[in-house]
Amino acid sequence: MKKFKKVLAATVAATMLISMAGCGGTTADDTAETTTENTASAEDGGSSETPADLTSNEGVLVWATNAEFPPYEYHEGDSVVGIDAEIADYIGEQLGLEVQCEDMAFDSIIPAVVSGKADLGIAGMTVDPDRLENVNFSDPYVNAGQVIIVAEGSDIATADDLAGKTIGVQLGTTGDQYVTENITDATVERYNKGFEAVQAVQQGKIDAVVIDGEPAKQFVASAEGTQILDEPLTEEEYAIAVSKDNEALLNEVNKILAEMQENGKMAEIVNKYLGDNAEAVDDGATQESSDEAVETTTAA
Ligand code: ARG
Repeated sequence: MKKFKKVLAATVAATMLISMAGCGGTTADDTAETTTENTASAEDGGSSETPADLTSNEGVLVWATNAEFPPYEYHEGDSVVGIDAEIADYIGEQLGLEVQCEDMAFDSIIPAVVSGKADLGIAGMTVDPDRLENVNFSDPYVNAGQVIIVAEGSDIATADDLAGKTIGVQLGTTGDQYVTENITDATVERYNKGFEAVQAVQQGKIDAVVIDGEPAKQFVASAEGTQILDEPLTEEEYAIAVSKDNEALLNEVNKILAEMQENGKMAEIVNKYLGDNAEAVDDGATQESSDEAVETTTAA
């Protein structure tokens, strides 16, 4: 990896700055010719692949996400920004690859990684046994967990009170899984966007939302009259999904994640978004929604 860094010329660094814009503006392909000069050495895990060969499209690192999940990934103008966007950019930078983001429905991310449409799934994605049947996960990069959001004045005070209630989740998430499997007689309303579920609580259409803790804070800050219950429901770890057919890339990602932990880069990125300065999501343009669940079932 150090070798890659050395060969990254100033021109590449400049191009990387452009690609740092995230999902928005990475069309230039100036990196390719320079990066083909990079060769992986034996110390990089014995892989004979060059960084350019590590991905489906030579010279390009495509990461799939669902940018409805602040502060991990959300829209800012035409770009996708957030913790995961910065991690993706950093990985691309270290590998000398142009970074492209594909924003899609959350439950399309793993299929995209499996099919090779995307090289990485980076989406505040929890390591979970079902997913491990289809993809590999990197080492975890952050701890997280599900929380409960209710309207202020709700009679729901603990997880036990969720039985028999109408509960909103984001479709295909571990929150969806948790409620579906664990809450007796719940009606599960599945939304494409977590914030739509929170708006439905705000409007009294549903009783609660089960969703990851950090997005919950941002959503509640943007939905007056909603609150998070103190007691967390689950303990989870986020990691990066990689195709089972691409162990070389998995190894590179793990090495870079370890470096980021050691050199303070990960802490810097996380603190930037989770610190006191973390901003609430923009309630306007980027969060317009229908408030209609896309799917409803009765749980457990
Ligand atoms: N951590 C949860 C899961 O893995 C939710 C992730 C949702 N991420 C997103 N980008 N919408 O299922």
